[in-house]
Amino acid sequence: MNDPQSPTPKTVAQSSVREQVYMVFPNDLNANDTVFGGLIMAHMDRLAAVVADRHAGGVTVTVSVDAVHFMAPARRGDVLVMHASVNRAWKSSMEIGVKIEAESSAGAAGKRRHILSAYTSFVAVDANGRPVPVPALQPESPEEKRRFEEAQLRRESRLRHAEDLRRLRGALPG
Ligand SMILES: CC(C)(COP(=O)(O)OP(=O)(O)OC[C@H]1O[C@@H](n2cnc3c(N)ncnc32)[C@H](O)[C@@H]1OP(=O)(O)O)[C@@H](O)C(=O)NCCC(=O)NCCS
Repeated sequence: MNDPQSPTPKTVAQSSVREQVYMVFPNDLNANDTVFGGLIMAHMDRLAAVVADRHAGGVTVTVSVDAVHFMAPARRGDVLVMHASVNRAWKSSMEIGVKIEAESSAGAAGKRRHILSAYTSFVAVDANGRPVPVPALQPESPEEKRRFEEAQLRRESRLRHAEDLRRLRGALPG
């Protein structure tokens, strides 16, 4: 049963961003003539922040990013096509999955290359930067339910890793 104090649960569709486009220009390229990875990561974080703010219904901050994978380069003349959605929400934190594809603006319509996949974690905060509760997520489709279950495994592993690091630092001299 839901806690009566908790915000009303939300669906994935209530916050997700689909088909957000960005046209690559020459000043987006690195010395290798492919799109600068940091630019793509900035897009990833902005997109995920929009989804997190929508789901939380307020201000959120990025707390961690895990498993950023660049699958293929984006190039001059490409259009980046970006998608992001909430995979799961816990007490104050949420996992947002981001996928970025690229399509050539010079023809090959509909043919997309997978450029990036990433999982980002956001925490909803109050005006003093303290964590506040977020709505639970109600996954609906089989795909959303699969992501929901997988997100729990990732959360356990990322929190265990953060705790291991804290313990190691605490045990080191100085
Ligand atoms: C995010 C922040 C508010 C969390 O504060 P905190 O004192 O660590 O709070 P808590 O320990 O209560 O953790 C709050 C939530 O974050 C989660 N969390 C903490 N560390 C995490 C990590 N490394 N990865 C994923 N989630 C994490 C906790 O599990 C908890 O989730 P839950 O409430 O859903 O169970 C604080 O760490 C912070 O302000 N960080 C800087 C954020 C920032 O500046 N981002 C970049 C600019 S937006």
